[in-house]
Formats: sequence, structure tokens, C-alpha cells
Amino acid sequence: MPYSPQFGDHFYCQTDGRLECGHVFLAGNGLPEGWKTKQNFAIGELGFGTALNFCETWRQWKELRNADSHLHFTSFELYPMDRASIDRALSHWPELDAERAVLTELWPDNPQGKVELQLDAQTTLTVVCGPALENVGCHETTFDAWFLDGFAPSRNPDMWSPELMSAVFEKTGDDGSFATYAAAGFVRRNLQAAGYVVERRPGFAGKREMLCGKKG
Ligand SMILES: C[S@@+](CC[C@H](N)C(=O)[O-])C[C@H]1O[C@@H](n2cnc3c(N)ncnc32)[C@H](O)[C@@H]1O
Repeated sequence: MPYSPQFGDHFYCQTDGRLECGHVFLAGNGLPEGWKTKQNFAIGELGFGTALNFCETWRQWKELRNADSHLHFTSFELYPMDRASIDRALSHWPELDAERAVLTELWPDNPQGKVELQLDAQTTLTVVCGPALENVGCHETTFDAWFLDGFAPSRNPDMWSPELMSAVFEKTGDDGSFATYAAAGFVRRNLQAAGYVVERRPGFAGKREMLCGKKG
């Protein structure tokens, strides 16, 4: 179970991070159903970490996508992990063996700047390395869905600040949405102040609440 001593937190829940991704980030954004409504779908993520969310999303996307549709997954990450660490973390899930093999084959030795990877004909991954606040605001496109996956708000407040939540809102398409495992009051208020209509839902694996919401 990958753990960050710097932030004093795990990279995902200790029950099953892959299933948590489906419950929180995909279902919280109305996915995979929402993929049927758009030919080109863009997901933004705060915190690429071990690539677990990306690989689980890509796995489901491959099963359910329409011919000619395209997914662009863009993640903002301050401390990109090296290939061996990503490989080690993802090897916990045999369900993701195929995705892990392709990703670690293409992952650069020294990830920095913008890492752009064409994973298959219908899937592009961009990892923007650096502080999210610096990079989200100047990103050139908007996103249909956001996965807000910083470390725990109490330990990683930069990833949940009013400034960053506003930048995320600005980079959300008109029908766009967000989802997060976090339920802290200050996170909810920052998302509401940014402009989102915020909904509280039951969290994953007995967690009382998670948050999701829409732009309008
Ligand atoms: C909970 S982990 C993300 C887990 C990831 N989504 C996965 O699937 O493994 C949080 C991530 O946020 C990153 N992070 C923390 N502060 C950041 C910041 N200010 N800007 C960008 N990334 C940051 C950490 O390095 C860490 O990888």
C-alpha cells in the first residue's frame, strides 16, 4: 500500500483503491454512462500518483467505448513517480495487468514538463508535472469531468484551496462535473464558492460521505 511520508497519507483507501475509483470518481461523475453522450471526452485529475485511477478508467473505457470516440485523460501531479514505483503499486491488481504493461513501457525515465502518451488509438494521457495551481489555470482546454484526488484535505490543503477549486471550475465544460472522496466542510464550501452545485453522497466502503457536483 503506497504511503507518502511527506504528506502522512496513503495514495488510496486501504480497502480497495480500484473499486473506490469506480464508486467515487467514475460514478460520482456519472461515468461510464456519460461516455455515451460525447464523442470526445476529457477528464481532468488532481494528483496522478500511482496511475491507479487512470488505469481503472482506461480499463472501463476500453470495455465500453464506441468506435471513433476518444478519451483524453489529463492529470496534474507535483511529484511524478518513477516507473518502478508505478509498476509496484499497480501490480496489486491483476485486473489492470494489461494497462500497467502498456503504461510502464511508455512512461519516461525522468518525467517532467508535459508527459504526453498515446496509449491506444482512442486514448491519450497527459500528465502535467508541477504544482496544480500553476498549471490548471493556464491549461488550454476545459474538462467534462474532474477527479479531485489530492491527499487528505487536512494534510494537503494546497490541493483543496479556494484558488485551485476556482481554477478547476473555470476549466470545467458547461455540462461538466467533479467528484471527490473528500467530504471536509472547507472543501465543500470552496467548491460551492467556486460555482459548483455540490451534492453529498455515501462514500466508499462505509465512509459516511463523498462529494460530487455539476457546473450548472
Ligand atoms: C492521493 S494521491 C493521488 C492518487 C492517484 N490519483 C492514484 O490513482 O494513485 C495525491 C497526489 O497529489 C499529489 N500532489 C500533492 N500536492 C500537489 C500539488 N500541489 N500539485 C500537484 N500534485 C500534488 C501527490 O504527489 C500525490 O501523487
